[in-house]
Amino acid sequence: RAALRCDALGRWVVHVIRTIMRVLLTGGMGFIGSHTAVSLLEAGHEPILYDNLSNADRSVVDRIGRITGHTPTFIEGDIRDGALLKQVLRNEHIEAVIHFAGLKAVGESVGKPLEYFDNNVSGTIKLLEAMRSVGVKRLIFSSSSTVYGTPQHLPLTEAEPTGEATNPYGRTKIHIEEILADLCRSDSEWSVVCLRYFNPIGAHPSGLIGEDPNGIPNNLLPYIARVASGRLPYLNVFGNDYDTPDGTGVRDFIHVVDLAQGHTDALPYAVSHTGWIAVNLGCGRGYSVLEVVKAFEDASGRRIPLHFAPRRAGDIAANWCDPTLALKLFGWKAKFGIEDMCRDSWHFESLLKTECETR
Ligand code: NAD
Ligand code: UFG
Repeated sequence: RAALRCDALGRWVVHVIRTIMRVLLTGGMGFIGSHTAVSLLEAGHEPILYDNLSNADRSVVDRIGRITGHTPTFIEGDIRDGALLKQVLRNEHIEAVIHFAGLKAVGESVGKPLEYFDNNVSGTIKLLEAMRSVGVKRLIFSSSSTVYGTPQHLPLTEAEPTGEATNPYGRTKIHIEEILADLCRSDSEWSVVCLRYFNPIGAHPSGLIGEDPNGIPNNLLPYIARVASGRLPYLNVFGNDYDTPDGTGVRDFIHVVDLAQGHTDALPYAVSHTGWIAVNLGCGRGYSVLEVVKAFEDASGRRIPLHFAPRRAGDIAANWCDPTLALKLFGWKAKFGIEDMCRDSWHFESLLKTECETR
């Protein structure tokens, strides 16, 4: 019986050692990366954050430490610096990479296509070269529902065609997905999971990490939050003549904490499979701009003044996904609803405003 107990203990130790992984998070100090770092730490993994701080603040690493009780290693660096990447992959004994780093503002990408292709596409190639040279061949990539372009069918499944993005940012995601697919075809040792995010919003319930864009926000939730807190006077609703129930745009909003968990849940799949796969991460239902405004008003107790404005160039009417593949492959499903997303966004915004005022 003692031998059996020893054997079970041994298997348990092997299981724990095997499942705890050292994971490099490029762009790990950003909105989604920082929440994923929290999720990985809570699952017992060891994330190492690599970020050039072009869109993140140094304080994020301590905030992650305050949430989880473990401050992860942070290395300041650019993904286009292949030599540094190689050194980090080797010295930190990295077993898998989650690749968030990149530029993400759709409107800005129209005016700065070369910066977007350099950062996102060339940066990814540098990362892949560094990974190949040290033999790390497991990657989870931050893709986007933008790769589907204008949906032909809803909900969107991964079988829908891609390749019709309406802006350079979206094209970088399509190019990267294709490069990754070619890489997997060329070398059967690679394991690549492209996670196609729908619309991540919300913040960590602690209010310590969230999304605080520089300047005027482009995206709906950060804009609404600033209107609610009085930092902006009103929300422009871009278009109320879409073919949707209330005429405003419809999106599949997903709590960033759920999205982060999707990466942690995808990791065992990346370890136990090779080849390329794309998987949607969304809630599987759409909310209109006006429904989100109402949910935010309820969560914050503040009124959001509205101005109806023309449609925004490049916007689609509606998209939401079929998230069943993520459930089937990773056992992942979003847990939080729109009320939770608005509540946590508002909590983060309120703390941020207090912080700004006391500075
Ligand atoms: P973010 O800007 O908050 O995070 C990206 C991080 O990457 C930032 O911390 C930035 O400093 C860093 N970075 C940028 N260029 C870098 C470089 N060359 N080298 C090293 N670090 C660099 O953005 P996010 O919302 O957390 O998005 C993460 C990823 O998810 C991005 O690839 C984005 O395109 C993708 N994505 C985001 C959304 C969204 O709505 N937030 C939707 C779909 C896909
Ligand atoms: N909207 C407004 N007013 C605003 C901002 C947005 O009415 O001030 C509307 C938009 O017109 C759209 C909806 O709110 O109908 C959502 O817009 P967002 O800018 O928040 O999000 P998008 O769906 O346009 O795009 C976001 C990211 C992309 C990503 C995509 C899918 O910005 O990078 O989600 O993940 F690719």
